[in-house]
Amino acid sequence: MDNFLNEYLSPGTRVLVTGGGGFIGGCLVRRLLTKSNAQVFNLDKCGYASDFTSIEEIDYGHRHHLFRVDLVDGDSTTAAIKKADPDLVFHLAAETHVDRSIDGPNAFVFSNVIGTYNLLEGVRTHWQSLPKQRKELFRFHHISTDEVFGSLGDSGSFTELTRYAPRSPYAATKASSDHLVSAWHHTFGLPIVLTNCSNNFGPWQFPEKLIPLVITKAMTGQSIPLYGDGSNVRDWLFVEDHVDALLLAAIKGRLGQSYCIGGFGERSNKQVVELLCELMDERQPELAPHTDLIKLVSDRPGHDHRYSIDSVCIQEELGWKPQHTFELGLASTLDWYLAHIPWCEKVLNRAGYAGERIGA
Ligand code: DAU
Repeated sequence: MDNFLNEYLSPGTRVLVTGGGGFIGGCLVRRLLTKSNAQVFNLDKCGYASDFTSIEEIDYGHRHHLFRVDLVDGDSTTAAIKKADPDLVFHLAAETHVDRSIDGPNAFVFSNVIGTYNLLEGVRTHWQSLPKQRKELFRFHHISTDEVFGSLGDSGSFTELTRYAPRSPYAATKASSDHLVSAWHHTFGLPIVLTNCSNNFGPWQFPEKLIPLVITKAMTGQSIPLYGDGSNVRDWLFVEDHVDALLLAAIKGRLGQSYCIGGFGERSNKQVVELLCELMDERQPELAPHTDLIKLVSDRPGHDHRYSIDSVCIQEELGWKPQHTFELGLASTLDWYLAHIPWCEKVLNRAGYAGERIGA
C-alpha cells in the first residue's frame, strides 16, 4: 500500500477530506500524511466527536490544512473548496451514531443530506472549472455504510446490487446522501466512487459506539449495556483495513461504481462483549470476571438484526483484503484504549457525554 500511494498521488496532489477529525476520517488523513506527499485539506465542523490529537502527534511537514467548516453552511463550504482546490475528495463528514439519530434526527438530516448536497454543488462547480488534464483525473469518493441496505435475517450478505432499505433515521440520511451522489454522477457526469462499509473499530474512536464504550465501561468497573438479548450480528472491520480499501477504491475504482467493504468479522454483540471481557480479565485479573458487568438492557428501537458484507467485488477488482483478524484487531484496540485513558476522559468531557444510554 505504501508504494502504491506514492505512485498514484504525486507530491503536491491536493486531497480534500471532509470529516477528517472523525474516527475513520482521521485514520485516512494520517495515512495520507505519513505515506504520501499530498497536501491534505481537512474540512471538519469540529463537532462533539471530532478530535485532532492523532494528527497533531505525527510529523506531517505542514501538509495538513484544517478548515473549520460545517457543510450545512453552503457558502463556507464553497469557499473552502475553492481554497483547497482539490484533485481528489473523500467525503466522510457525517453524523454517524444510530442511537443519537433516534433522540435527534434533525442534525442527521441537516449534516448528512443538506451537507452532502452543499458539498456536491461546490465540488461540481470546482470540477467544471478545472483545466482538462486535472478534470480528467478528478475523483469524488463518497464514504457510506452497509446500514443503507437494512437488516438481514440469519443468512445472506449485502452486495453492490442489494436494494436500499434503510430503517434508522441515521441509515435513511446516509441512503439519501448515496442517492444524491449517484444522481450527480448520472446527471452532471461528476466522477464519483461510492463505498459502503461495515462496522469499523480501532484506536481513536469516540467512546459511544459498542467496542470503545464497552472498553471504557469495563476499565472503570461500570455495567456494560447489551441491547436486547445480545444476538444482533455485526461484521467488524479494522479501521486501517478500511482505509486501505478507501484508497484503492478512490484511485483505482471504476467511476460510478459502488464497492461493499466488510471485515470477514461477523460476531454477535454478545460474542464481542464476552471476548472483550475475557481480554480484560487477562489484563486486570483483580477485577475478573468482567462478564459480571454485562447487563441486558431494553432493545434499541428498530434494531437491525444482522449486517453481513460480501466483499468479493472489491477483492476481485481491486485486490483488497483485510490484513487484521477480528481477534488480533480487538486485542490491539483494547491495549490502545488502556494506554490512552486520559484521551478518553478528555474527549468525553469535551463532548459532555459520560457513557449514558442514548436512543432508548
Ligand atoms: O454498519 C456500519 C455502521 O456501524 C456505521 O455506519 C455506523 O456509523 C456505526 O455507528 C455502526 O452502527 P451500529 O449501530 O451497528 O453500531 P453501534 O456501535 O452503535 O452498535 C453495534 C451493535 O451493538 C448494535 O447492534 C447495537 C449494540 N449495542 C450498542 C451500544 C452502543 C449494545 O448492545 N450496547 C451498546 O451500548
